[in-house]
Amino acid sequence: MNALTPENVLDALRAVRDPDLHKDIVTLNFVKDLNIEGKDVSFTIVLTTPSCPVKDQFKQQAEEVIRKSIGDVGKIDITMTSNVSTRAAIAKAPILKNVKNTIAVASGKGGVGKSTVSVNLAVALAKDGAKVGLIDCDIYGPSIPIMFNINEKPRMHNQKLLPLEKYGVKVMSIGFLVDPKQAVIWRGPMASGAVKQFLSDVDWGELDYLVFDLPPGTGDIQLTLVQQIPLTGSVIVTTPQEISLADARKGLAMFNKVNVPILGIIENMSYFICSHCGERENIFDTGGGSRAAAEMNVPFLGEIPIDTKFRVGGDIGRPLVESEPDGKHAMIIRDIARKLAAQISISNLGETTSAPIEISLGVNNK
Ligand SMILES: Nc1ncnc2c1ncn2[C@@H]1O[C@H](COP(=O)(O)OP(=O)(O)O)[C@@H](O)[C@H]1O
Ligand SMILES: [Mg+2]
Repeated sequence: MNALTPENVLDALRAVRDPDLHKDIVTLNFVKDLNIEGKDVSFTIVLTTPSCPVKDQFKQQAEEVIRKSIGDVGKIDITMTSNVSTRAAIAKAPILKNVKNTIAVASGKGGVGKSTVSVNLAVALAKDGAKVGLIDCDIYGPSIPIMFNINEKPRMHNQKLLPLEKYGVKVMSIGFLVDPKQAVIWRGPMASGAVKQFLSDVDWGELDYLVFDLPPGTGDIQLTLVQQIPLTGSVIVTTPQEISLADARKGLAMFNKVNVPILGIIENMSYFICSHCGERENIFDTGGGSRAAAEMNVPFLGEIPIDTKFRVGGDIGRPLVESEPDGKHAMIIRDIARKLAAQISISNLGETTSAPIEISLGVNNK
């Protein structure tokens, strides 16, 4: 057994490894404010996201490794906190001064649940303690005002628009500003101009994650948007059937073309659990999303079942992750949000180190 000294505590903590970043928490510089008083030791573990999927595991492991290698320890007081990581290209973009990460949620076609997924992911990240914003880029069919049940108009402050805040998320949509019937006749450049204004003319304050619900498809409008917004990465939402997957592949190709990292694929409407017999039915086939992810060598973030609760949540403007945060269905999305946050941390770390970063998380990317 070793004596209780700061060096020995740090040495012991080297046994705690981050499964996603593939380094130990001391090398990653996560351990701060180490303090020893008599037999007691206290320190803080600063993670790269409050949505860290292994937060509790870290805390438990840290205590275990200290007790195992150091004799005669009293209380071990570990504070878990986070400082969300960012990357130079995002931090430098003047248009996003206080925004650490920007995530585009895209789909090859409409109706696959991209807005439902965007909304629930944003609320899930906020529930974990992150500062989150959401931009409805679907100029022609904005659905976020309904999905958040917001009927107000944004106010101006110091020449900037203030986003509307609900369920812990700051939201902006063209639907708050113009009659959707008018926007329908806008051409592509006007649409991407409007989204750019959401970055330059809206006072977002400090954000850890800004989610963009892109218009469905992979045409010129989408391409212009992803070229003009400095993006941390993208997420592709698909349904399992082949026709949707073919479109999802086009989405991947689009992001590859403009060098935007793909953070992962989410399969929505994956399966249906019969409320009478409890049996799983694969209405639109199964496993397509994870196969496409494997084929394209990008992470698979998870499967979301078909359930009336998701649809009702959208219709009444109260996302399921908000109304039943600990329910079975909400936990599926919250788990996906944590995997996504981990992928963002991996991607950001990858930029500052030259070593290739592998992706673990138990996702199907073999
Ligand atoms: N997992 C799901 N289970 C049940 N209904 C869903 C699910 N995902 C989306 N929906 C419903 O499908 C419709 C289309 O979803 P939406 O999020 O608007 O798609 P998109 O933004 O891709 O066009 C909406 O009525 C929505 O409530
Ligand atoms: Mg939509």
